[in-house]
Amino acid sequence: MKPINVGLLGIGTVGGGTFTVLSRNQEEITRRAGRPIRIATVADRNTELANKIVDGKAKVTADAFEVVRDPEIDIVVELIGGYGIARELVLEAIANGKHVVTANKALLALHGNEIFAAAQKKGVMVAFEAAVAGGIPIIKALREGLTANRIEWIAGIINGTTNYILSEMRDKGLSFDTALKAAQALGYAEADPTFDIEGVDAAHKLTIMSAIAFGIPMQFEKAHVEGISQLTREDIAYAEELGYRIKLLGITRHTARGVELRVHPTLIPARRLIASVEGVMNAVLVKGDAVGHTLYYGRGAGAEPTASAVVADLVDVTRMHTADPEHRVPHLAFQADQLVDIPV
Ligand code: HSE
Repeated sequence: MKPINVGLLGIGTVGGGTFTVLSRNQEEITRRAGRPIRIATVADRNTELANKIVDGKAKVTADAFEVVRDPEIDIVVELIGGYGIARELVLEAIANGKHVVTANKALLALHGNEIFAAAQKKGVMVAFEAAVAGGIPIIKALREGLTANRIEWIAGIINGTTNYILSEMRDKGLSFDTALKAAQALGYAEADPTFDIEGVDAAHKLTIMSAIAFGIPMQFEKAHVEGISQLTREDIAYAEELGYRIKLLGITRHTARGVELRVHPTLIPARRLIASVEGVMNAVLVKGDAVGHTLYYGRGAGAEPTASAVVADLVDVTRMHTADPEHRVPHLAFQADQLVDIPV
């Protein structure tokens, strides 16, 4: 069957991982998607590095706009990050009738309402499993697995960098700065690590989960955001003595007054399962009215774990794209008209 053509924007950590996973598991992925998924073009400012990774298997360009305007491209994978040029590219891809897969939580938390409305108008899909909690399929869990439930609350460790820093400070007695440098060296941190350490990245992800769980628009600006930069080794040691672990949690709850969104360091009794989530691992607890408590655990950052989510979206979008348009269920895209505005 004719391959579906993908344009990959950005071949950094996650882009490289996506390329690797798609090539290594090509056979299974083709079977599951119903047709081959082919990365046709890669756009990256660093064409030398891109050529090295791609190794002649795809076209390489420095101009991402060329990709979103290319009539041969069916799906654009946006892995550039940030909300300047990435927003323009995504909107232009949608306007040109392309589906979009993105790992860009900042973009969705800030401009998701505009992007989903544009996608709905154009009848294309925007998939974003990789934007929240890396390799954990939490978007699919909220949207599909728990779809029978009224979600009451979500609480999670959704930033790998800060969890890694807190773990290293506790276990190895590292200073905050040394632990942060190690997280950066491992490729976990954001380009601007203040987004990690000040809780902004977690708030972006929380905003997205909250929108899905409660059917509200993205309302990042209403989140209470506090990071871990003020925490010392002494704070962590005192917490330990008292039988607690300090974790940066993102919490969203549906209350009688509206939806609450908050990110802050939290004391968690050491006997709780979530207290033992260490290093770059993420964990998300979801309370649904029918199912009760569920817990999702896995790698929240890194090349292949995040690529696992990107490729899962590529498979889903390919299946949906290939389905008879009459019977296509746009479950991956937000339906703007289904959103109700609950005061946050
Ligand atoms: N900087 C993010 C984190 C990357 O540490 O969780 C994954 O979103």
